[in-house]
Amino acid sequence: MTQANWNPSSWHNKRVLQQPTYPDQQALGGVLERLAKQPPLVFAGEARRLQKSLAKVAAGKAFLLQCGDCAESFAEFSANNIRDSFRIILQMAVVLTFGGAVPIVKVGRMAGQFAKPRSEDMETRDGVSLPSYRGDIINGMDFTAEDRVPDPDRMLQVYNQSASTLNLLRAFAQGGYADLHKVHNWNLDFVTGDLQAERYRDLSRRIGEALDFMRACGIDGNTTPSIRETEFFTSHEALLLPYEEALTRIDSTTDSWYDVSAHMLWIGDRTRGPDDAHVEFLRGVKNPLGMKCGPTINPDDLLRLIDTLNPENEAGRITLIARMGATKIEEFLPPLLHRIKQEGRKVVWCSDPMHGNTEKTSNNYKTRNFSNVLAEVKGFFSVCESEGVWPGGIHLEMTGRNVTECMGGAAHVTELDLANCYETHCDPRLNASQALELAFLVAAQLKNARQRIVLED
Ligand code: PEP
Ligand code: CO
Repeated sequence: MTQANWNPSSWHNKRVLQQPTYPDQQALGGVLERLAKQPPLVFAGEARRLQKSLAKVAAGKAFLLQCGDCAESFAEFSANNIRDSFRIILQMAVVLTFGGAVPIVKVGRMAGQFAKPRSEDMETRDGVSLPSYRGDIINGMDFTAEDRVPDPDRMLQVYNQSASTLNLLRAFAQGGYADLHKVHNWNLDFVTGDLQAERYRDLSRRIGEALDFMRACGIDGNTTPSIRETEFFTSHEALLLPYEEALTRIDSTTDSWYDVSAHMLWIGDRTRGPDDAHVEFLRGVKNPLGMKCGPTINPDDLLRLIDTLNPENEAGRITLIARMGATKIEEFLPPLLHRIKQEGRKVVWCSDPMHGNTEKTSNNYKTRNFSNVLAEVKGFFSVCESEGVWPGGIHLEMTGRNVTECMGGAAHVTELDLANCYETHCDPRLNASQALELAFLVAAQLKNARQRIVLED
């Protein structure tokens, strides 16, 4: 069933923030018509399966690992990069499963994460002002007038890149690569001597022993498919509404609308106005939804948003992604946790410890310090425990490659190191070693939470 007074274009009647102005409306119309005829990237039944898994997270019986680039790009697109991101997410999931002893729901910020909200419409350099870069789905990153013009053809390139990315992800997830017996092989490309690689090697040895023991007891990939393959879902911020609308279709089995550009879609912290276009669009599609919650949201507004997006209070439909900042989380998150629990709303609470901890260095790099990221994660687990709420997940910006974009971690990336390999198209990402290190630290928190948080049914 669909929501009342809604259709895929009803958002046009609302205030819409963070959209480009396309100079050629006719070209835009042509692209949207072509997009509307493309096959779906994901299937409604898959989105429903993700919602079921997220319902388990909401009930405190699983944990969500959502991660990937801040912004995917055309320049960084390659099979190796997709494999590297997928592999590090698998490694993180193994670390979390082993440490936390709960199933991990894996969701990539991949195969569609191309549109970026910006704080300024224009960017000025040396007295020259040009439209801000809004992600490869909209315009180009070079600071030239030509590159910064919004070009609708980019949507078709995003669609095609997302289709190829998904194709490879599906093959990795189900074609043997993700078999737990290969847990040792996923580590191969790490720098020799990397501390995280050593810890991971030790863990994979223990998993190997556990698998041998289970095989001896008659449990293997044939009896238990989750040993030989995994489920991997995709997500992105549903920011560029014409693109999302063109990929919104009726599912014939349930007669409901699904946005088939990704399994899960989220609303960013800048576009969550309850009367605005992004909330209007997303309330009508049946995919699981995420919503970023920054320090400016108050409990009343949050409750209203939840009820607009999920009037039936279905578990697994809503994931709230807290991105407060390390110094603010202990003040701003508890009132939200408290109120939503008191009102009986079934949601997943997830921590994004990246977006509230962005800083500029004196040499002008946008970065994040690993210690602040970790402090926010710890703050999240601690306030969840105080409120008796399950800490349901973690949302990270990371890459499988050895970039130098975030400072700190056991590898001690310094301010001066940032110049070595700074390649992000938007926000700074954890590199493979920092991501794995964080996974070990989160696993310890998760184990603790599982032992200490008693949930009412
Ligand atoms: C993001 O996730 O890249 C982002 C822009 O987040 P937020 O909406 O929380 O600022
Ligand atoms: Co970001």
